[in-house]
Amino acid sequence: MSQVLAIENLSLSIAGARVVDGVSLSVAAGEVMAIVGESGCGKSLTAAAVMRLLPPAVRQEAGSIRLAGVDIARLRESEVRGLRGRRMSMIFQEPQAALDPLSTVGTHIAQSLRQPLHRVRAEVLRMLDEVGISDPARRIDQHPFELSGGMCQRVMIASALIGRPELLLADEPTTALDVTIQAQILDLLRKLARERGTAIVLITHDMGVVADIADRVAVMYAGRIAETGPVDALFAAPRHPYTALLLASIPRLTDVPKSVLAVIPGRVPGAAEFGPGCRFAGRCPLTEPRCEAEPPPLAPIGDGRATACWRWEQMV
Ligand SMILES: Nc1ncnc2c1ncn2[C@@H]1O[C@H](COP(=O)(O)OP(=O)(O)O)[C@@H](O)[C@H]1O
Ligand SMILES: [Mg+2]
Repeated sequence: MSQVLAIENLSLSIAGARVVDGVSLSVAAGEVMAIVGESGCGKSLTAAAVMRLLPPAVRQEAGSIRLAGVDIARLRESEVRGLRGRRMSMIFQEPQAALDPLSTVGTHIAQSLRQPLHRVRAEVLRMLDEVGISDPARRIDQHPFELSGGMCQRVMIASALIGRPELLLADEPTTALDVTIQAQILDLLRKLARERGTAIVLITHDMGVVADIADRVAVMYAGRIAETGPVDALFAAPRHPYTALLLASIPRLTDVPKSVLAVIPGRVPGAAEFGPGCRFAGRCPLTEPRCEAEPPPLAPIGDGRATACWRWEQMV
């Protein structure tokens, strides 16, 4: 399968600390790839690097990011601007914050096409319909304050998709929404991947969301990928203690393995606290001296899976 997005060995640093360290992942057309992990694990910065929208404090130390084979680091700023909205788009957690309060729904979406609304009105109406907004002819002239949170999120999705990008980065797109609307938005993303072949990177801290829509998942911990693989296999038998912790935290899934790993106290270490070994060692019930000393590489374990744990065989 041809890869729409291929990130290889991406490392990002803030004041010398590697907050994203050697991350590699790829997404094919029509595939939903989830990046999951607790807050502060480097998920959003990874997505910002793909869009080439890193905050000024963040430096890319290493790695390559290819969009349909083209290394985006080699492009000029003007060329990257041309890709945003057309080849790759991003949606965020707070739809209201991303929408201009003075702009109507239609004007906002037309801006993605760099066109005045009157020239693309029919196309915008079709897009509103496609993202499940009822009565598009009325909604198109409304302002964000007249819409619910779920509807604002649909407007943001419409605006991200109207340029027909091959890649959609969705950063916690449903976190601010109630459960019913969350399910509808996830269904919509799933449908986009299937019907349009859009490659989707879905960032979330919620394994329940991963279970609902992802094909594959990369579990991130403190800037590194802990484990990656097809969702079904990884849920049936996690091969990294951190994955097991995240699975145990899903209240509505009862059929995942829950063991001594069910409750692991502690928090994600800050960049100043990174030791030389595995960054999860301080919270891990399987830690042995080697884990504190030597970082485990992300190693293939078969069936498209890989884990960065010295002791994964103890989890079998
Ligand atoms: N603009 C910024 N300036 C300084 N530090 C940042 C900035 N953005 C993110 N960080 C730090 O980088 C790390 C990764 O952040 P982020 O990618 O936002 O994590 P996540 O999305 O997984 O919650 C965190 O330790 C965070 O505090
Ligand atoms: Mg984030």
